[in-house]
Amino acid sequence: MIKLLRYLPLTLYFLSFNGVAQTQELLHWWSSKGELKALQTIEKIIQQENKQIQQHYWQVNAIVGEGGLSASKVLQTRGLAGTLPTLAQLSGTEITTWAKFGLLQPLDNTAKQENWELLMRPLALQVSRYQGQYIALPLAIHRINWLWTNNQIFRQQQQIIPKSVDQFIAVIKVFNAQNIKPLAIGNQPWQIAILFENIALGLTSSTYYKKAFVELDKQAIKAEKMHFILNKFREISLLIKPTISKQSWENATLTLLHHQAAMQLSGDWVLGEIIAIDDDALSYINCSNAPGTEGTFIYNMDNIVHFKNSNNQRQNMAAQKVLRQLSSSQLQHDFSKAKGALPARIDVDMSDFNRCTLQAEKDYTMAKQNATLLPSMTDSMAVNPVIQKMLINQIYTFFNNPNISNQIFIDNFTAIASGSSIR
Ligand code: BGC
Repeated sequence: MIKLLRYLPLTLYFLSFNGVAQTQELLHWWSSKGELKALQTIEKIIQQENKQIQQHYWQVNAIVGEGGLSASKVLQTRGLAGTLPTLAQLSGTEITTWAKFGLLQPLDNTAKQENWELLMRPLALQVSRYQGQYIALPLAIHRINWLWTNNQIFRQQQQIIPKSVDQFIAVIKVFNAQNIKPLAIGNQPWQIAILFENIALGLTSSTYYKKAFVELDKQAIKAEKMHFILNKFREISLLIKPTISKQSWENATLTLLHHQAAMQLSGDWVLGEIIAIDDDALSYINCSNAPGTEGTFIYNMDNIVHFKNSNNQRQNMAAQKVLRQLSSSQLQHDFSKAKGALPARIDVDMSDFNRCTLQAEKDYTMAKQNATLLPSMTDSMAVNPVIQKMLINQIYTFFNNPNISNQIFIDNFTAIASGSSIR
């Protein structure tokens, strides 16, 4: 809102000046310190464009909150109201859903001009294609199964970084006993679902994860393994719930950074956050695989789509121009480096990236070879957005209510999976 107001006078000026200026908008959900730093690289391009205004003027607006869940609701409402932005950040199956409604502008020309087929990671291209057409620009790839730990607390408490979920539970107990907050996390659906997805993979295998959370295979959902996951997840919830509030993920990260919490189990936007706040953060914050998930890589991707909301040729060309610049190697380098993510392009020189992103790159390559690259269920990379949101709700309710038995969760999950033909 503040941003909107900042741009408004200028927009009005251009409108009144030549009477035909059109406002174009890029909508996103990047609002934490690290995300804003990464966003600056995009804003630089937008500002350049705005300097050359003729018939359009760009605004960059954020819908804050919960890994895009709020932005997704706003986009749906704006879709119904016929006021979609020109460009928007979108992930995974949300992209295909909008494409099914025929609302996304194909980007095949941009893809050809920028040689995407040769220069982008095949996985990024796969996520950005629908019925043989490119309908989204691949920007960056996040890894979800990371454990961030505070070295000082671990040293003081003489603990070692947990390599399995059982070790993870054991250190939580140690920190609890010492009145140290074990986990930096806010009690919000998206954050809790990420915790669940990491624990579920850590306790099982990529084969089971794919069956249960990607293919929604009923046998896998009802299997003994799901009880095993839920028992451990219940144990974790009982241990950490009394220590947490409803804070945002970035405020949780701040507690990790300020030595007020020992660990955070979340994607590498956490990395972008800590290095944006303190250049030296990686000297006291460690990155390692989420417990039990070594050799796997749960991914989430940042994409930008172009909505078909204008018949104005000039406006569309202006949007395509911005998209071309967003696919450039330089932009992808600068954006990903700040974001803590891997660039979607393969030709980006990553030699000046930090050790955690370089580790993510190695893990990505290994997971690709071993077929253990796994789409994030929480971040709508695996199942369609309706199923994704229902599942997140189930996980959140289970986490917060000990009266929800494993069986209730499994029955609800099975019912959700039965409706998965709306996929
Ligand atoms: C997005 C990231 C973002 C994170 C937290 C994820 O869904 O892919 O770009 O940093 O949410 O806001």
